Amino acid sequence: MKEIFQRVSVRKFTAQEVEADKVELLLRAAMAAPSAGNQQPWTFCVVRDRALLDRLSEASPYAKPLLGAPLCIAVTGLGHGLRFPEYWQQDLGACTQNLLLEAEHLGLGAVWMGIAPLEERMQAVRGVLGLEEESKPFCLIAVGYPAERAAGHDRYDPSRVKMM
Ligand SMILES: Cc1cc2nc3c(=O)[nH]c(=O)nc-3n(C[C@H](O)[C@H](O)[C@H](O)COP(=O)(O)O)c2cc1C
Repeated sequence: MKEIFQRVSVRKFTAQEVEADKVELLLRAAMAAPSAGNQQPWTFCVVRDRALLDRLSEASPYAKPLLGAPLCIAVTGLGHGLRFPEYWQQDLGACTQNLLLEAEHLGLGAVWMGIAPLEERMQAVRGVLGLEEESKPFCLIAVGYPAERAAGHDRYDPSRVKMM
């Protein structure tokens, strides 16, 4: 699948807005992910407001790409009612990767910015987005049309593989 090998983290974006239909496709891809017992423990905040984007860029020392991004999708975990709560971060990782691959497919650029499990960052995101205490901010994804991007890569390393 070519998108897997073309995808790179994009941290610089043009000013062009991401169309609403493309945002829906990103969310559809995210929600198509596998999850433990199909518990689908995800919720999303779609942020376009410039003041909120700027404030989110301070939720982590590595979230500066948001300063120049037209869109952020915050991926958050449900804090209650999960059958397999111990798997919530794995479930949200799968859903985040699906979203990144769909962004690549749509000609968009994106970067995953880690929030969980660092409580300080999680609390900062809750504060900016007005989320309930039980909500679990997992990551922030800056999305937009790429202003610059690296070439894709194939990191295949046979020394990491044990054939049995
Ligand atoms: C769990 C996780 C957390 C990450 N956090 C950040 C981050 O806070 N800021 C950032 O610019 N990139 C972040 N990245 C992106 C990585 O730096 C990037 O994926 C890695 O350097 C490989 O480059 P590539 O995505 O272009 O293949 C994160 C990636 C993952 C999977």
